[in-house]
Amino acid sequence: MSKKLFFNWKMNPTTSSQATELFEEVVKSSESLPVHIVVCPPFVYLPLICELSKKTNIKIGSQDISTQDSGSLTGEISGSMLVDLGCQYSIIGHSETREINHLSNQDVNQKIKHCLQSNLTPIFCIGYQADKTAKDINYTELSEQIRQGLQDIKLDNDQTIYLAYEPVWAIGTGKTASNSIIAEVTKFILEELKILGLDSKVEILYGGSVDDQSITELIKIEQVSGFLIGGASLKPEKFSRIIEIVSDK
Ligand code: PGA
Repeated sequence: MSKKLFFNWKMNPTTSSQATELFEEVVKSSESLPVHIVVCPPFVYLPLICELSKKTNIKIGSQDISTQDSGSLTGEISGSMLVDLGCQYSIIGHSETREINHLSNQDVNQKIKHCLQSNLTPIFCIGYQADKTAKDINYTELSEQIRQGLQDIKLDNDQTIYLAYEPVWAIGTGKTASNSIIAEVTKFILEELKILGLDSKVEILYGGSVDDQSITELIKIEQVSGFLIGGASLKPEKFSRIIEIVSDK
């Protein structure tokens, strides 16, 4: 099975016509290729992109989700609203969102629960914040993020969580974690998931400077099901090559 691709557009592009063009490039690059692609645009483009995705195999996700389904929560977007548009996924606990919105692991846990209750698939991001280099892996912080983020979560047979390991120092820097670091951390994540009884239901992704160059090495890591891609998902020449490489395997 080829590696799955999750495109995180972050706060880009700045107009809906550019968003349309970008999405049409993704469609063009992936047409008739055996590849699983999820595009996560900013909230404001979701109605447009969900509509455009209808005649394609591309799935759509949001970049965040509320903890509640409706109510006095100014600025929040609920699972029901996302499902109504045609979304199937939601990124939760991205390191940038954790920082901007001062999210605790408990907040992330509430969002994952709401996401699952809404029948959306969470793309749950973890990555140690403290270290700025690849040298020391902060297993304590990773363990806290996993155990607290997934606390009391039970999955039905048809439910999956994608857990994206994204070292903060690798995001948007052009530096990727080495295959051996990713394999080591993946092994650790699987052990933590086993303790929670979730190891058979969670698929692990890697994110952090995945592009058309680094992908050739990264696809060799067996335990990783796919990639969460930021910068390169905005550049057609890069993502079309990534799609080609991934669907070739
Ligand atoms: P990047 O971002 O590919 O630009 O490093 C990945 C992410 O933040 O999800």
